[in-house]
Amino acid sequence: MNDTVCFRNIGQLVQVDTANKPPRLKILYKHALIVKNGRVEKVLKDSGLKSSNYSRVIDLKGKTVIPGLVDCHTHLIYAGERKDEMERRLDATSYMDILKSGDGILSTVKATREADGKSLLKTAKARMKRMMALGTTAFEIKSGYGLDIETEKKILSVGNRLKKELPVPVTLTYLGAHAIPEGSTKSQYFDFVMKNLPLFRNLADGVDIFCEEGVFSVKDLKRLFLQAKLVGFTQLRAHVEELSHQGGCAEAAKLGAVSCDHLEYANPKDIRAMKHGDTVAVLMPGVTFFLGGEKIPLVHSMLDAGITLALATDCNPGSSPTYNMQTVLNLACHLYRITPEQALVAATYGSAKALESHEKYGSLQPGQRADFLTLKTNDYRDLFYYFGENFVEQTFIQGQAVRIPKAPAIE
Ligand code: NIG
Ligand code: FE
Repeated sequence: MNDTVCFRNIGQLVQVDTANKPPRLKILYKHALIVKNGRVEKVLKDSGLKSSNYSRVIDLKGKTVIPGLVDCHTHLIYAGERKDEMERRLDATSYMDILKSGDGILSTVKATREADGKSLLKTAKARMKRMMALGTTAFEIKSGYGLDIETEKKILSVGNRLKKELPVPVTLTYLGAHAIPEGSTKSQYFDFVMKNLPLFRNLADGVDIFCEEGVFSVKDLKRLFLQAKLVGFTQLRAHVEELSHQGGCAEAAKLGAVSCDHLEYANPKDIRAMKHGDTVAVLMPGVTFFLGGEKIPLVHSMLDAGITLALATDCNPGSSPTYNMQTVLNLACHLYRITPEQALVAATYGSAKALESHEKYGSLQPGQRADFLTLKTNDYRDLFYYFGENFVEQTFIQGQAVRIPKAPAIE
């Protein structure tokens, strides 16, 4: 028998109207969401519903419903944490100087190499459940804390287990070109990454690279992307123009990157290249906040150019230790001066587009996965107004309520 559930008595129902260019929010009052076999079937006026038409009727008691949030850039499979490094940064040592001294990303590499697959799976799964409870209903996860074949494979195998064991869509990205491991020169390590790219083809959907002074160059990005295409990776992404301007964004967009991420130092030429390449701009205000960065990306120029914006946590122990997309939404509004509507469209439709999945989820449109959140408020803008609150009352994945873990956010 078909399972058709009617979620009725929704005070404010927020969808993304993707027919509008650029997509905008569509807000309906006193409506019902009809979910058939885990997908949105239709939206109806609440008055005049016939409960006998449905297998179940759930009364949402006037609450707000918004699409589930999509976290399109995370590094959530890792061991250890970096509070000492945070203290060094607060005492004026820079993020890059910490990396150059052999810590930073490399300290997480050390801890992740030492951890076994079982413990990585346990901690990553706990993180994802916590993120789901806070409103995330689709994920991207990168490797990049192994920098050797064995550990990179271990991380991506954990990612594939998470894909199977949790009911949410997961996109996996191979980020071998994340940092240069101790004992190698840049060119030795980069040649190693290039040579071994085919080993990761069946473990990940795409590739990524950290293009930054003292890490990988624009030339490396170009070589990696061309080789990745030959090997058969479909999704090319890049950490670009994060701490300085290198030119990686324009090159990545030219080579067909699905997303360019960070972009604090992206300039008008980069914006034109992203527009031309239909590349999504993934912004992560949690990094701006946590690293104390003063450089704000040219978000309004991006919007004026008609580029799709996405928002993500960048969840990782060094530059953005957060599990909470609600915090990211709030920071995006106030650090980037964008409206709640622009931020919410970015964290749903935009992030889904960065994962080439905007047809499948992100907008709560008929035919899409019924991944949505009920909020403890009658106005979605409270997410952007009050800060430091958790407004998610319940996360629904394919129309099913997710159990909220009670454990604290640390392992
Ligand atoms: O997206 N920029 C490079 N990579 C991550 C940080 C990783 C880390 O510090 O562990 C980022 O910010
Ligand atoms: Fe990142």
